[in-house]
Amino acid sequence: MNLGYIDRFAKSLIREAGHKIRISFYSQIDVESKAEANDLVTNIDKEVERFFIQRIRDAFPDHKIFGEEGFGDQIHSLDGIVWLLDPIDGTMNFIHQKKNFAISLGIYKDGVGMLGYIYDVMADDFYHAVKGEGAYYNDERLPLLEVTRLEEAVIGINASWVVPNRRVEHEPLIELVAKCRGTRSYGSAAIELAYVASGRIDAYVSMRLAPWDIAGGMVIAQEVGAVATNLKGETPHLLGTDTFIVARPGLHDNMLRNHIRLK
Ligand code: IPD
Ligand code: CA
Ligand code: CA
Repeated sequence: MNLGYIDRFAKSLIREAGHKIRISFYSQIDVESKAEANDLVTNIDKEVERFFIQRIRDAFPDHKIFGEEGFGDQIHSLDGIVWLLDPIDGTMNFIHQKKNFAISLGIYKDGVGMLGYIYDVMADDFYHAVKGEGAYYNDERLPLLEVTRLEEAVIGINASWVVPNRRVEHEPLIELVAKCRGTRSYGSAAIELAYVASGRIDAYVSMRLAPWDIAGGMVIAQEVGAVATNLKGETPHLLGTDTFIVARPGLHDNMLRNHIRLK
């Protein structure tokens, strides 16, 4: 696996896709709902995924692609080289806000994250990492994360987990919200992961994410010493949906131990 070559290829593909997304605002955007009414997809999500797949297949015919919109391969294992792609993470923001969405891409070899990318398209902010070589925000190397107390932490959490819901006990999360310095919710799991890795927030937690939401961000998070697991404290599954937390060391443990009780 020629990491340097794949890295340069992936970065230029992401930038080209970002340009396509930005100019899409000058054309008609068709919005559809998927299985659930609030799970949105547009013609642009689909076009961008097809663009990636065609280019990746031309350049690397033996690589597999696991994309949210389903134009890639049927993936039953992470053997070999697998690209895990979300062409637009934060589609609701793409539609409603025209900002705060990202391209999220992780490239894994036999289940190990080798390359990770999160491109905040409208901010033109690029977070990227090569396993073992550190993580970067644009051209700036990101420092290792230090431990933070909950009382000084800003936590990324969606308000829907702090009211009665079927996945997690909400009372311990109310305590978490009361104890921490503040909460944020950006509406793109990939951007929230990038924000944890770059120290803009201190933790991000979700009850249900897909492999393409977290694959790229996990490579970046690992390079700065952030701890990323599912809510049982295990490595998140990358073949199906799972719970998810990423946080500074120490804070991860505190949140899991004291504030998260799955139903
Ligand atoms: C969604 C976003 C959102 C998260 C959802 C994801 P999508 O991805 O990351 O922040 O809360 O669980 O499905 O559908 O916009 O690619
Ligand atoms: Ca997503
Ligand atoms: Ca998406």
